[in-house]
Amino acid sequence: MAVNTMIGTSVRAAAELLTQGQLVAIPTETVYGLAANGVSPASVAKIFAAKSRPSFDPLILHTDSLHKLQDIVTDIPTTLQTLADELTPGPLTILMRRTSKVPDITTSGLPKVAIRLPSHPTTLELLSLLDFPLAAPSANPFGYVSPTTAQHVFDQLGGKIPYILDGGRCSIGLESTIIDYQEGQVVVLRKGSTKVSSIEAIVGPVTVQSASTSRPSAPGMLSNHYAPKVPLRLISVAEAVADYDQSQIGHIAWSQYSPLIPEDNQLLLSPNGTLEEAAFNLFAHMRELDQKDLQVIVTNLVAEEGLGLAINDKLRRAAAK
Ligand code: TXA
Ligand code: MG
Repeated sequence: MAVNTMIGTSVRAAAELLTQGQLVAIPTETVYGLAANGVSPASVAKIFAAKSRPSFDPLILHTDSLHKLQDIVTDIPTTLQTLADELTPGPLTILMRRTSKVPDITTSGLPKVAIRLPSHPTTLELLSLLDFPLAAPSANPFGYVSPTTAQHVFDQLGGKIPYILDGGRCSIGLESTIIDYQEGQVVVLRKGSTKVSSIEAIVGPVTVQSASTSRPSAPGMLSNHYAPKVPLRLISVAEAVADYDQSQIGHIAWSQYSPLIPEDNQLLLSPNGTLEEAAFNLFAHMRELDQKDLQVIVTNLVAEEGLGLAINDKLRRAAAK
């Protein structure tokens, strides 16, 4: 059944809909989320339906304060509390032991629940009006590139949700880093926009879980997640012209256009040459080129350091499709 989707800036309207058990897309500093009352099984079920998301892929609960989660999470290890204090609000998601107040559907039955304190002011204001946490995955159909503007959300979920809270373009553009605590060690489950080095600066060396396709403990780790529809390949333009029609090659370039193909089909990841700017542009560029009539999108890995770890992780997954 099609619904009329509004894009607006009313935090109150968003709060009202969420309180009624409806879905609202929300801005965060990383990507837009598709939010619902995270402790209401019926509301959470609507997220899985709207995204066509498999039920084994658990959701993150968003809050504006860990104090509000007294009856939601329990036994927070000191190390995780320290990381939460130092690095949030911000793009870090932390797995914590859950109480029975968290419905199974939210965590896909797992004993821990993912918790995130986003830093986007509009969503912090929204959360302050609510007495429940918001379950919110990225607001894209399952397996597609995450949205970084309200319009991106509308393009794919328009007609399925009543309201998109517009908070402008996401300032970071890449999902949060997800961590767990296992046998006294911090484990990074998903490389994201909080740098591993920022975590290590606070708690010392951590384990970074490598990509897994079989039984991932963070299903966001599945290869071929985040992929555009046009195949993405990690090859040079020179290699691509050997295999494809010149006018049908899209190119996500680092900071300079290739002279081998039309500039119309090329987008620069970082004119300034910084990984921050590349992260900010990555998903938007994939989407823009995906809308053109192309046979292939080519790009190269970036420097394997800082935010580059997360960018390369997304690129490898997108190319695995
Ligand atoms: O930046 C972000 O984290 C965005 C914004 C909207 O907050 N959210 C986001 O959610 O990326 P999502 O659902 O697209 O990706 C979260 C990933 C899921 O793929 C899931 O595998 C993992 O987090 N996850 C959630 N709860 C988990 C749990 N209890 N145990 C292990 N992994 C979990
Ligand atoms: Mg996602």
